Amino acid sequence: MLILHSLLRWILLLLMGLVIVRSYMGSKQQKPFTKQDNLFGLLMMIAADLQLLLGLGLYFMTDFMKSVHAAMSENMGAVMKNATMRFFAIEHITAMIIAIALIHVGRILSKKAATDEAKHKKLFIWTLIALILILVSIPWPFREMGRPLLPF
Ligand code: HEM
Repeated sequence: MLILHSLLRWILLLLMGLVIVRSYMGSKQQKPFTKQDNLFGLLMMIAADLQLLLGLGLYFMTDFMKSVHAAMSENMGAVMKNATMRFFAIEHITAMIIAIALIHVGRILSKKAATDEAKHKKLFIWTLIALILILVSIPWPFREMGRPLLPF
């Protein structure tokens, strides 16, 4: 599950990048909102929801997270002072759930928008905010709590 969660990050980031570029160009160049635009948005949402499911599984199942939960019930203050434990216990899950909710909001507002330009714009803004939140909430290898990249 951890390997899938780690790999799916790249697929999600790629899809979000595609959606952002397409919706930006779409609104700038006043392009129609096509079936393909909708498809990329849908695939992005599916990848985000899968990532949420895998993340929830990991949150309660890995040995590392079990040790974090044990520490939380013993001494929450100590967990809060430990950057790695705090990150995985609270920061990662909270930020990612908010980001995935923003992806959903963007798609809903885009679907409801009256014009094609507005559809592109809504999708662009909300996906961009979600992407920024995701990028700052990933345990990149260079961060204190970072995880090494898998060797493939
Ligand atoms: C867009 C959403 C998300 C992205 C891009 C993402 C990305 C990542 C990455 C790259 C790792 C490190 C994997 C590794 O060690 O190689 C990780 C770990 C983890 N993620 Fe996420 N994550 C996301 C959402 C979530 C959510 C919503 C949850 C919880 C509900 C979650 C729970 C976890 C946990 C518990 C770990 C650490 C597991 C362990 O090492 O024991 N993630 N995540």
